[in-house]
Amino acid sequence: MVLGVESSCDETGVGIVSGGRLLAHVVASSMDEHARFGGVVPEIAARAHLQAFTPVVREALAQAGIGLRGVDAVAVTTGPGLSGALQVGLAGAKSLAYAAGVPLYGVHHLAGHVAADTLEHGPLPDPCVVLIVSGGHTSLLLVRDLVRDPILHLGDTVDDAAGECFDKVARIFGLPYPGGPAIDRAARDGDPRAVAFPRPLLGSKDDPYAFSFSGLKTAAARWAEQHRLRGEDLPLADGAASLQEAVADVLTRKALAACRQYGVRTLVVVGGVAANSRVRALAEERCAAAGVELRVPPLTLCTDNGAMIAAVGDLLVRSGAAPAKLDVSIDPSAP
Ligand code: KG4
Ligand code: ZN
Repeated sequence: MVLGVESSCDETGVGIVSGGRLLAHVVASSMDEHARFGGVVPEIAARAHLQAFTPVVREALAQAGIGLRGVDAVAVTTGPGLSGALQVGLAGAKSLAYAAGVPLYGVHHLAGHVAADTLEHGPLPDPCVVLIVSGGHTSLLLVRDLVRDPILHLGDTVDDAAGECFDKVARIFGLPYPGGPAIDRAARDGDPRAVAFPRPLLGSKDDPYAFSFSGLKTAAARWAEQHRLRGEDLPLADGAASLQEAVADVLTRKALAACRQYGVRTLVVVGGVAANSRVRALAEERCAAAGVELRVPPLTLCTDNGAMIAAVGDLLVRSGAAPAKLDVSIDPSAP
């Protein structure tokens, strides 16, 4: 029974996994408290983790039908993430491990995202390409054995993350935070070809798997401004659909190019942006055409949660990895 703790951003997540099986999955989010600031406020997030930690742990133990004595190991996100937020989760996880007298394992947040899918679809095939797209990350990874082999980092965003792009453009369009779901809803009745938004870094030869989304945000701002200057209402549905199309096009094209280059037959897409309807549809279409299996975990496992951290902890325990010491520190800018 591995209990996993996640607190790197605005979600306090605790999950319990045993032998690859998900037994508990509880998440408390402080997202609403950040809404009026248009983004996550680190101090608010840290305090919210402090308030949520004990109730979330209690609920997870109840879901799994065990007490603290039933826990065999504790896994916790040590980074990357917000320092204050990580500190709270790590202090809580250390306390639990110490109280229960069980080993503690530090987990890289992105390894957690990668492992999330194993809770739904079983062990990951070796190798696979993993696209992590959220408000904080846009990373393309080549994953072999998650606990034995280093993850090969193929590319990242050079500026904004894909979700950040959705959030910022939504703000420009006057839509609520978080912007991704709002853009997705607004795009439903729109024409994805209405606006020719750029496809940043699509043809980049030096760094074929690098992403860039800040130019897209600027293009969307300019488009909105032009309509405002002309005194016209913003054709929101068309703008949202076109933006979503540009993001989905770049993400899926690069992910499939990586599958082709490395001879990989499985693409895993995780992170909050994996919830985007156009990203999913285009990934399905392009994977089917390329004969690549697409794995997307359910939305509750796609966004930040403790179950994915417990999933990595479970793999670490079963692989015989050495646990961390109780003086292990956070690593907010972990590579
Ligand atoms: O994984 P996540 O919950 O947290 C981290 O950022 O780590 O991802 C949140 C991000 C936000 O930027 C949000 O706008 C985006 O995922 N998102 C979406 C959708 N749902 C959430 N973006 C596009 N379309 C969606 N349906
Ligand atoms: Zn995340």
